[in-house]
Amino acid sequence: MGTDKKTQKTSGVTPRHILSVDQFDHQFVADLFADADHLANMTHRVISPDENFAGFHMDITFYEPSTRTRKSFETAGFLLGLQVSVTENAGAFSSAIKGETLEDSIRVLSGYDPLCIVLRHPEKGAVARAAAISPVPIINAGDGAGEHPTQALLDMFTIHREIGRMDDLKVLILGDCRYGRTTHSLVKMLSRQKNIHVKTATPEQLTLPEDLVETVTSRGLTVEEAYALTEEQLAWADIVYVTRLQKERLPAEDRANFHTQYEVFRLTEERVKAMQPHARILHPLPRVGEIDTAVDALPQAAYFKQAAYGVPLRMALLRWVLQDQVQKYR
Ligand code: NCD
Repeated sequence: MGTDKKTQKTSGVTPRHILSVDQFDHQFVADLFADADHLANMTHRVISPDENFAGFHMDITFYEPSTRTRKSFETAGFLLGLQVSVTENAGAFSSAIKGETLEDSIRVLSGYDPLCIVLRHPEKGAVARAAAISPVPIINAGDGAGEHPTQALLDMFTIHREIGRMDDLKVLILGDCRYGRTTHSLVKMLSRQKNIHVKTATPEQLTLPEDLVETVTSRGLTVEEAYALTEEQLAWADIVYVTRLQKERLPAEDRANFHTQYEVFRLTEERVKAMQPHARILHPLPRVGEIDTAVDALPQAAYFKQAAYGVPLRMALLRWVLQDQVQKYR
């Protein structure tokens, strides 16, 4: 018999699932961002042989489209020395099309012994269901209109890098707060910080879910909702967080209707003039017209930097998630 790492496997490791921002405490975020800062400041992200995960693999299975989340996880995995196995349209190209349950697919994929499974699924709560039966860590890369915890970490990391603090902030969120899962995770994360004020400007039917507002306000966050975008709001904000209309999650009869209403929230060069010089515009992307391309050259535009931070941030996160897993074999 060979002495391959995998033959030394022992059981008893609790998988470090990443399911919701509610599981991140201050110490976790501080340690994670210190590691991500270090990685972001490296000219070449070359990980020393004793720190990388050569010989191991991770799985990325997405049942919903993605560019940034999938590619930045994939890149982070490669840079950490992992082999990465990707299924990018699992709804069509996996046995889901034959009727296999998500649970059975996860039982099979985890049996191939990846160090973790990064999972995106159109149904709220599906990723938690997968985690309940998976012996390897499951990372929630977006569950329908539920949460997107790694995007919230990325949003906070961008705020930390660009503004230099994560407390005492005025945050204006524009667009679709009802179905935009990144806004749900972000306000939950902000509610853990000190002295944060949130304003939203959305179509009337696309406000933050009421139960979420209740939760975050009970933690001390102030949330003020408006149905129009004004110069005063833009001048007030340290962060303007823009989102697209989540048309794939809207009831079909509402799509055209909201599309017209959405126009009034568009960020133009003229409107950005009202913003303070230190303020920053974030967007989880993709943008589909909510920010004019003329805004890209302005100093407040930080959304492409935000996307680029996805690699060091997810490298740091993978290192944390995989730490215990890999000990099973070492
Ligand atoms: C977001 C998502 O998938 O929720 N994109 C992303 O992960 N960067 C936002 C969106 O699709 O609008």
